[in-house]
Amino acid sequence: MDFLPFVQKARTCRRFAEDKPLRKTDLDWLVECARFTPSARNAQVVRVIEVLDQSAEALFPLTHWAMALKNWKGPTEGERPTAFLALLLPEKSPTISYIDLGIIAQTIQLAATSRGWGCCIIKSFDQEKTTALLKPESPYEVELLLGLGQAVEVRKAVDAERGKDLTYWRDEKGIHFVPKRTKEELVLQALS
Ligand SMILES: Cc1cc2nc3c(=O)[nH]c(=O)nc-3n(C[C@H](O)[C@H](O)[C@H](O)COP(=O)(O)O)c2cc1C
Repeated sequence: MDFLPFVQKARTCRRFAEDKPLRKTDLDWLVECARFTPSARNAQVVRVIEVLDQSAEALFPLTHWAMALKNWKGPTEGERPTAFLALLLPEKSPTISYIDLGIIAQTIQLAATSRGWGCCIIKSFDQEKTTALLKPESPYEVELLLGLGQAVEVRKAVDAERGKDLTYWRDEKGIHFVPKRTKEELVLQALS
């Protein structure tokens, strides 16, 4: 598949087939993809914790999903993520390390999409309880969680109207729409 339709397809996923759980080998493959990402000074400061089975079940209630969908309380039983990857940085990391973190998160999201899996990057989670559950070794702190599983949610990117609200929404069939700024709005200047 050409990269453009592929990246258009790679929308955040928040509903999964819980009866088809991801396995350790699946998470290992995602981490293997993440291993080859660019890194500032090639310092490779990010670390990962793989979370499956009962640990994923315990982590799920500590995460917050789609705050903009006021009438939706997050994935229900049967549609919850079946695995998580926690991305960690050493405490008090410089800003540039967060760029590494973002590149890894997006690479994993694209890798997951390539296999029909869905991914939700999650920054909104209970830090204290997540630390207590995952027990990362010092000096690492959990910075992002990636909720993962077989994707069942239909998601579509649509062109955003200039100056209009960028909030995502769902239609009556449950299709999730994500407005994206047009190329014309994105490109501030084209110098030659
Ligand atoms: C850094 C970051 C943090 C995010 N945190 C959350 C989160 O806590 N919960 C959630 O449901 N989605 C979270 N998202 C997903 C965004 O809501 C999503 O990327 C956005 O709505 C655009 O949708 P798209 O990924 O399909 O383009 C996060 C995304 C990023 C990049």
